Amino acid sequence: MINVVFVCLGNICRSPMAEAVMRHKVLEKGFDEQIRIDSAGTSDWHVGKPPHEGTRNLLDSYKISYANMTARQFASEDFVQFDYIICMDNSNADNVRSLPGGEEAEIIKFMDLLPNEKLREVPDPYFTGNFEEVYELVNAGCDVLLDRIIEENSLS
Ligand code: 4NP
Repeated sequence: MINVVFVCLGNICRSPMAEAVMRHKVLEKGFDEQIRIDSAGTSDWHVGKPPHEGTRNLLDSYKISYANMTARQFASEDFVQFDYIICMDNSNADNVRSLPGGEEAEIIKFMDLLPNEKLREVPDPYFTGNFEEVYELVNAGCDVLLDRIIEENSLS
C-alpha cells in the first residue's frame, strides 16, 4: 500500500479538499486497493471537526465525497507511515520539517507539482474565501501527483 498525506494548517480547508479530490481520482482510476489518501493539519485547532463549509460546498458541487473525514493533527509518527507527504504552503512545510524526524523526511510542496503556475503556494481560503481557486490548483496538482505515484511505483 502506498500512503499519501496532504498537510495544511487547520486540516479543514485545503488538505481535506486535496484528500477528497485525490481519493476520487484514485477510485476513478481503480487504484484504491493500492493507494491510501489521508490529510492532517500542523495545528490542533480544529481536531475532530468536519471540513469547512466552503470546502464542503465546493466538493458537493463537484459530487466528490468527503464522508467520514474529520480533522487531525500531523504527528512525527506520520513520517514512518506515509510515503508521500505533501504540504500546501511553505509554512506548513516548515512546521512539518521542524517536528522530530522531519529533517530527514522527504516533503513535497504541493505547488511543485505545478511548476508552470505563477502561484508557488496554495492560497488559504480560510482567509481569501476563494475555494474555487483552491479547487482548480488541487485538481490539476492531483492529476500530476497520481501520474507520478503510478510511475514511481510501477502501478498498473
Ligand atoms: P487550512 O485553513 O489550513 O486550509 O485548513 C485554515 C483553517 C483554519 C485556520 C487557518 C487556516 N484558523 O486560523 O483557524
